[in-house]
Formats: sequence, structure tokens, C-alpha cells
Amino acid sequence: MNDSLNLENIKKELEEKLRKVSSEQDLLNIQIEYFGKKGILRQLFSKVLEVPVEQRKDLGEKINNLKKEAERVTSERRAKITGVEAVENTDLYDSLPGRKPEIGHIHIISQAINEIVDIFKPLGFTRVRYPEVEWEYYAFEALNMPLTHPARDEWETFFINAAPDKKYGRMVVTPHTSSGQVREMLKGNLPIRMLNISRCGRRQIDISHVPSFYQFEGLVVDKEISTTHLKGVLDYFASNFFGEDRKTRLRPYHFRFTEPSFEVDIDCGICHGKGCKLCKEGWLELGGAGMVHPNVLKAGGIDSKEYTGFAFGWGVERTYMMKSGTKIDDIRYLFGNDLRFLEQF
Ligand code: PHE
Repeated sequence: MNDSLNLENIKKELEEKLRKVSSEQDLLNIQIEYFGKKGILRQLFSKVLEVPVEQRKDLGEKINNLKKEAERVTSERRAKITGVEAVENTDLYDSLPGRKPEIGHIHIISQAINEIVDIFKPLGFTRVRYPEVEWEYYAFEALNMPLTHPARDEWETFFINAAPDKKYGRMVVTPHTSSGQVREMLKGNLPIRMLNISRCGRRQIDISHVPSFYQFEGLVVDKEISTTHLKGVLDYFASNFFGEDRKTRLRPYHFRFTEPSFEVDIDCGICHGKGCKLCKEGWLELGGAGMVHPNVLKAGGIDSKEYTGFAFGWGVERTYMMKSGTKIDDIRYLFGNDLRFLEQF
């Protein structure tokens, strides 16, 4: 047997080297030298094929024994240096694949928000955000809902346990993005093309409601703005968000801060307004809209004889769930943080 196969020597040499090491790094270098992909032990195994067939079994066994011995002494040394008990099956070859970090992606609600922002941008709408913890004044009074008005009940508001302000009243978790309307007007920059997207809160929970959700709200104030502009913007949104062949319809409704007021419906993606098993009526309800009430313009310091405007607003999650192709039947999934659900989007 030639020199390079002097197995006894190889073991001795290893032991000698191990005795000298004092740091984990040195030890690691030795591990690589002996057990690495191109290490001494691997090379030994490849030598097996070079000897005559009848000697192969015997040599293979010897090398295997050497390998086990080498592993044992190295583990022992490692235990001494690191103070960690030697464990059987220590992976001296560092062959275990590394752990891949999970790479996340944007949450579906953020995806929906980004999409909405992108759709409105070419029309000149700028995204803004107003406080999520808001004064009662901006959420109601400024929107033509005086303190004792029963319409306020519809907003099932959370109140913050804090001292009220003489002018602005109590603090609330904003129950809708309409609270941003008068704030935007008070900035004093006309004309207005606002897209207010924000987290809102209401005391409600079931398959289509969560206590904390997102709304997006459009507000346009300019000279000679009429319902045709509102309808045009809504149709533009519907065809861009839901699909080219979709359209909206305005149904008379009542809000204190718009006059006239509407509920916006979108035609069913399957029957397009005729009525089918899925939608029953042919139309699905999106949310509220209307022409800004003169009292609201007044609260915003805008002369309603010179300026008019429209507003619309509704839930981001709900709108996203109605999009063709997304079969989400319970809004609470969106907030459940279950990766099996979230990874699908
Ligand atoms: N803020 C209303 C709501 O939350 C919707 C709405 C917005 C209605 C703008 C009219 C104009 O229900």
C-alpha cells in the first residue's frame, strides 16, 4: 500500500492537529480539510477503485473505520473547545442545507390599496391620509350630523377614553374616511382631487364586517362639478378594477353629508345586470356616494355658490372580495394572518 493510503498515519496526523487547535475556527478548517467535499477522506474513498477488485472490500471497510474514528475524535475535540456535549451524528461535513429565509410579499389589502391608488392617479387624484384617531367633529358635525342626530348611530363608533375638546368633542376611532373631507377642504387648496385611504373602525363583526377595516374615499371640489363627473369617475374605476365590461349604477339613497346621495352598485360579472343565481338582482352593492352637501363645503370654508363637488367612499376589503376571480367568502380571512391563506395571493 502506498504512502497516501497509510491510514494509521492519517489518523495520527489528524489527532496531532486536533491537539493543537484552540479555536472553533481552527477546528472548522480541519473539518473542511478532512471531511469537506474535496477533503482527505473523500479522496481516500475514490482510491478504492484504483486497487485490484479483490482488495476493494477490505480497503473500503478500513477507510470506513478510519472515517468513524476521525469523526469521533473530532467531535470529542469540538466538545472540549465549545463546552457543548458531543452528540452522536454531529454533522461534521456541514452537509445539512442552510435554512432558507422565508421571503414574504405584500399583504393582499396593501396590494388592493396600491391598485386603487394607481387607478385614480391618472385622473389627478392624490392619495392622502388623515388621523385614524379622529375628533368627533370631523367624523360627524362637520359632515352635517349635529351632536344628537340619529344618523350617527349607523356608524357604530368606538370612542376613545380621553377628555373631550370644547370645539371638537370626543375622540373616536374614525368610523369612515369621510372625516378627511373637511380636513382636506381646510387646507385651502382648490380645486380638490383627493383620495383618502385609511383604517377605520366600527363595532361590528360577521362574515362581511370586521371592527377594523380600510376605506377609500374620493373627493372632488371644483367649479361646475356635477353628477355626470361622479358617474364618469365611478365607471372608470369599475372598468379598471373589476374588468372592462363592468359598469356602475347609482341608486337614490340618503347621507347627511351629500345631496343628492346614492348607493353605488356594480353589475354582476356573470349576468351583467339581468339577474342570475349568484347575484339574484343583477347588481351588487359597492358603497356610498353623492354631491357634497353645501353645509359640508361651508364647514370646509368653501363658498358653495361658486364651488360644487362629489364624494364617494367604501371598504377596500369588500371591494377586493367582489373582484372577479377572488373567491373569498369571509372577510375575516384577510385579517387572520394564516399564511396558508395569504400565500395564495
Ligand atoms: N362615509 C360613508 C360610509 O361610510 C360613505 C360615503 C362616502 C357616502 C362619501 C357618501 C359620500 O358609509
